[in-house]
Amino acid sequence: MTAPVNILLVDDHEENLVAVRAILEQPDYRLLSARSGSEALKLLLQEDFALIVLDVRMPIMDGFEVATRIKQRERNLATPIVFLTAEAKEVEDFLQGYAVGAVDYITKPILPELLRGKVKAYAENYRQAVRIRDQEATIEAQKRTAAELAATAQARDEYFSLVSNELKNPLTALNLAIGLMGKEVKKEFKETAPAQWIHDRLSFCLSQSGRLLALIESLLDVSRIKSGRLEVNREQINLTSLLQGLALRLKPQAQEAHSSISLSVPKEPIEGEFDRIRLDQVVTHLISNAIKYGQGKSIEVALSSDDQNVMITVRDRGMGLSKKDQQWIFGRYERAVAQKDFSGMGLGLYITQEIVRAHGGEISVESELGQGSTFSVKIPKRASAEQRLAA
Ligand SMILES: Nc1ncnc2c1ncn2[C@@H]1O[C@H](COP(=O)(O)OP(=O)(O)OP(=O)(O)O)[C@@H](O)[C@H]1O
Ligand SMILES: [Mg+2]
Repeated sequence: MTAPVNILLVDDHEENLVAVRAILEQPDYRLLSARSGSEALKLLLQEDFALIVLDVRMPIMDGFEVATRIKQRERNLATPIVFLTAEAKEVEDFLQGYAVGAVDYITKPILPELLRGKVKAYAENYRQAVRIRDQEATIEAQKRTAAELAATAQARDEYFSLVSNELKNPLTALNLAIGLMGKEVKKEFKETAPAQWIHDRLSFCLSQSGRLLALIESLLDVSRIKSGRLEVNREQINLTSLLQGLALRLKPQAQEAHSSISLSVPKEPIEGEFDRIRLDQVVTHLISNAIKYGQGKSIEVALSSDDQNVMITVRDRGMGLSKKDQQWIFGRYERAVAQKDFSGMGLGLYITQEIVRAHGGEISVESELGQGSTFSVKIPKRASAEQRLAA
């Protein structure tokens, strides 16, 4: 049941109030009575009413004066008034000079059905108006919440980017210094035992700070992607030699995991226009994943091309992925493994996919649980006319 609506009955004669009350009494209405105009005006300050039933003939302040005062109030501009009058003419005269709508009358003696009918219609109008107002308020509140959330998310992303940059600068310097020290130690002290000891520790520091830098770089990439700032700077590249260099660079990492990388490329070098650093990042990441999730088994990387596209596949024979997991691993922060088993932020494939897409290409996975996975990347050799225009 909906909440009852307020109806104000104004009459100086108690018996009239009782009579009107008897006609209107029902659970949908909350009937309040006032015995004078000033009492009515007071009540109108305290509550909202769906309707006012107002006797015209009252001492001190008659119904018309009460109505005029009521309609001077902003809050009651739309509150309907039904006059109770012995003479229709006097109300019509009053209404003639009266601009504000929602004023009506009933002549005495009151026909109960007529009064009930009018009150019912006004109460229904009021309910409808309240419903609309509530809906509008809800929509407004939802809009505000959405806008606030978006603003918070943007502020967070900006802060995220700022913090990442702040972390990156000292770490880059540290990383460089460690690298330099390592080289100097080797040069100055040759193969002496202490020098070897220091050199090994420095190598360790270098690889750890390198990992930290890579993590921060991933976070920065995410904020670049989120703010549409991931740029692709295409240049002519020999993809064959890029992959050869990359396989060589990742060899120690693969060996450490008791794995190996075999690379198969066509005889003729494959060339195209790509962002060198970003493409390196894509393949490096796919191979790193193959090492990480490949359970020490061999990894095969293959390069091929047709007239328009180059295709790179990275295949491992490790843990593989279920059909379900294959669907979401490209999402941000999505991982199909437990943190305690494999460290990672679940960002690699997300960034990889974004880079591939920014080149107008696509990435896909084929995998079977326990059998290994094959990640395939297909990228147009050159930017499309649209991409050129957008660049
Ligand atoms: N070669 C693979 N074999 C099996 N599962 C894989 C492979 N590559 C990715 N996955 C699954 O996909 C998830 C997402 O990979 P992604 O590279 O995005 O994140 P990550 O490796 O967990 O963390 P990071 O952000 O450090 O790369 C991984 O957590 C893993 O569950
Ligand atoms: Mg990864």
